[in-house]
Amino acid sequence: MPPIADPSIPATLIPGDGIGPEVTEATLEVLSAVGDPFRWEPQKAGMAGVAACGDPLPAETLESIRKTRLALKGPLTTPVGGGYRSSNVRLREEFQLYANLRPARTMVPGGRYEDIDLVLVRENLEGLYVGFEHYVPVGDDPRAVAVASGVNTRAGSRRIVEFAFDYAQKHGRRKVTLVHKANVLKALTGIFLEAGKEVAQRYEGRIACDERIIDACAMQLVMNPWQFDVIVTTNLFGDILSDEIAGLVGGLGMAPAANIGVDAAIFEAVHGSAPDIAGKGIANPLALMLAAALMLDHVGEQDKARRLRGAIDRVLREDKVRTGDLGGKATTREFSAAIVRRLKERG
Ligand code: NAI
Ligand code: MG
Repeated sequence: MPPIADPSIPATLIPGDGIGPEVTEATLEVLSAVGDPFRWEPQKAGMAGVAACGDPLPAETLESIRKTRLALKGPLTTPVGGGYRSSNVRLREEFQLYANLRPARTMVPGGRYEDIDLVLVRENLEGLYVGFEHYVPVGDDPRAVAVASGVNTRAGSRRIVEFAFDYAQKHGRRKVTLVHKANVLKALTGIFLEAGKEVAQRYEGRIACDERIIDACAMQLVMNPWQFDVIVTTNLFGDILSDEIAGLVGGLGMAPAANIGVDAAIFEAVHGSAPDIAGKGIANPLALMLAAALMLDHVGEQDKARRLRGAIDRVLREDKVRTGDLGGKATTREFSAAIVRRLKERG
């Protein structure tokens, strides 16, 4: 007789700080109702990490992610003072998380735009964010001139565009838009455009490709966001566009993100630890739930991801159960209970 397969996938769970534990509990509840495929290893980071081990990113937590290669992360409070580097940047470097994926979808009707459904893919390791910066002294001003160098590689550009096309193909998307500034930054973003077009050729006839200059793209996102499907761009442009896109569908509070790399994939809520409402049981758990849905997609559980998103949509649109930030009165628990009810009714 063949051994009974263990369906659970080891994954690291970092509840994080502030509202982190509350939204994590709510997320685990809905995952469990949809059939949680993950075997969770709870780990500490942020202030919880500082309290336990004097490090916002303890070695044990890193070790766990190194082993599971998968993590779901709540918000981390960045300790002020103490010279700590941002844990998010450390994770990005440690696990070479080169792709930042930020989907944006209209969920609550009656906002600025209806029916938005687009995905931004941002290169996460290169560009102007490599931190090659210095000052040049002139006369008695030691910081008279500031210089920054950006670094984009052909391999890195190819890799991120390949990721975008591969994502588009797997998720039934029709078009990828390459966003650049190759008319001015001819080398730095020209190499990205060139590599991007090369990759696009391989998908010809299956996935369409077009291109936009960053400034025009920023405007068109406001005027006619429906023309876009998957957008892929370099680090700095992606940083800006990802927040712009979150703004089109109601802000950062409901935005999930995936950071996908060579050595691991880390899924998170984009919002912070919200110290002003922590412990009150009123936080909106949607961002982390949607991050969990991205994680289900990532491990090939698309059906569970679809069911989870469907239940969330019904609760928001039909049941009109919403947390305070969405104009409702529901507590975190009432909100997750409503989603669990919808998941159970669909069997
Ligand atoms: P924040 O996102 O925590 O809060 C901004 C505002 O949005 C607050 O009024 C908060 O109550 C509200 N809010 C945020 N998430 C919410 C939710 N799920 N439901 C209902 N309301 C929500 O940003 P803030 O105040 O600038 O940062 C607080 C802490 O979080 C800081 O230590 C910061 O460094 C950290 N942070 C961590 C991030 C991460 O780990 N990815 C991202 C952003 C901030
Ligand atoms: Mg940003």
